[in-house]
Amino acid sequence: MGELLRIDHVSYNYHSLEGETPALSDISLYVNDGEFLAIVGPSGCGKSTLLSLIAGLLRPDTGDIYINNKDIKSSGKNIGYMLQKDHLLEWRSTLRNLTLGLEIQHKLTESSYVVINDMLATYGLITFKNARPSELSGGMRQRAALIRTLLLEPDILLLDEPFSALDYQTRIEVSDDIWGIIRKEKKTAILITHDISEAIPTKMFLSYRNTSSSLPIST
Ligand SMILES: Nc1ncnc2c1ncn2[C@@H]1O[C@H](COP(=O)(O)OP(=O)(O)O)[C@@H](O)[C@H]1O
Ligand SMILES: [Mg+2]
Repeated sequence: MGELLRIDHVSYNYHSLEGETPALSDISLYVNDGEFLAIVGPSGCGKSTLLSLIAGLLRPDTGDIYINNKDIKSSGKNIGYMLQKDHLLEWRSTLRNLTLGLEIQHKLTESSYVVINDMLATYGLITFKNARPSELSGGMRQRAALIRTLLLEPDILLLDEPFSALDYQTRIEVSDDIWGIIRKEKKTAILITHDISEAIPTKMFLSYRNTSSSLPIST
């Protein structure tokens, strides 16, 4: 399992007419291929800024970000970014929401539909294929948003508080589903959250509560 992502002494400040807002100061970390990293911190501590830097939407003021030892700009790696809101389009069916990213990248082919149908079946959405997003439960919407991101075959998956819009009961069910999907698809992922219980895969959390054995820290 080699190193996939390295963040090396990165700092970032937002600039506006009112002045400068420091968002990140001298952050360093690395993520190995196939690893699942959770970053927990209170609101405003710079979590979303960090993901935007990894996604290449912002450039660090100082420091460097490498993917496979190459600068992110030249790495040619695909980064999937799943935001807090699912951003499903109400005027498109579930199926057409899933194809959207591929359509934009001109990558939608006949064989994409085989993969999409397979994923819809595996993740319990096949009977909702032609339904509108408003007909789906909160958990189904999150699964659909994750599948849409996965279809673009990201090398790294970034998840920005993906469960925070869900109620507690749904969050427990969905976080369990989402871990299952990420593990099954063997993705390297970074999850950020302000809620420590989201950072611990539900099954592990339960097994920790049910046993007196050592803490299940690794994923
Ligand atoms: N577009 C922006 N312009 C100015 N300041 C911003 C902007 N986005 C975030 N910030 C500030 O940067 C800091 C970090 O924000 P953010 O990365 O969104 O934190 P988190 O995701 O942990 O809540 C906060 O102080 C926030 O107010
Ligand atoms: Mg945020």
